[in-house]
Amino acid sequence: MRARNGQFKAARHFLESISAPRLIIPGNHDVPLFSLFMRLLRPFGNYNKWIEGLGAREIIFDEAAIFCLNTINYLRHQQGNVSREDLRKTAEWLDAMAGVPWRIVVMHQHLANVPWRRRPGIIRDAAMIVNALAEHKAHAILCGHVHYHNVSPASDFFPGVKRPILLITSGTATHKRVRGREGETNSFNMLTFTADQFSITPCYWIDEKQDYIPGETKSFTREYFK
Ligand SMILES: [Fe+2]
Repeated sequence: MRARNGQFKAARHFLESISAPRLIIPGNHDVPLFSLFMRLLRPFGNYNKWIEGLGAREIIFDEAAIFCLNTINYLRHQQGNVSREDLRKTAEWLDAMAGVPWRIVVMHQHLANVPWRRRPGIIRDAAMIVNALAEHKAHAILCGHVHYHNVSPASDFFPGVKRPILLITSGTATHKRVRGREGETNSFNMLTFTADQFSITPCYWIDEKQDYIPGETKSFTREYFK
């Protein structure tokens, strides 16, 4: 929550309990908020010490290739930023992954606000980023930060986008703050890939069952992206 050693230690313990391949990117709470000195001097100091080595920035399966970006602008704390250099690297990576059926890009902050729930922190130059990733044939962009599940075609927010691309946000799997003042349910997204189909299922925490229960699955075939 505040990028402190004890919080990172607990996060590390949790992450180490996940035996599957891990992709990990920082969020805006992974840089110090109140300690301006630390934020300017070593914004990712504690993150790098506890978390960085635990996860990759890309994973390539037979059916899907996934690439993660660090969008944290430590000077602004909330608003996300994709550097020109990172955008160029992502475009090159997408081109190189042309032979993999599904290509996914992950970033912490969101690229658009749904009309019924507005959150601060939208990635700077979002329309340009979405267009660039669509042009290089990404199928979906996964975001966190907003704390709720949503799947929308990018064209809902950016009518000029030249190719179909999905904007997918996920809920927060464990943080109790979403259950209180934000009125949300803890959730995570489960993504399933076959060569021909890409599906997204939100899984919601149900107190009575003490478990995550799958919600409605949305599926997209290759036809959709033509
Ligand atoms: Fe966030």
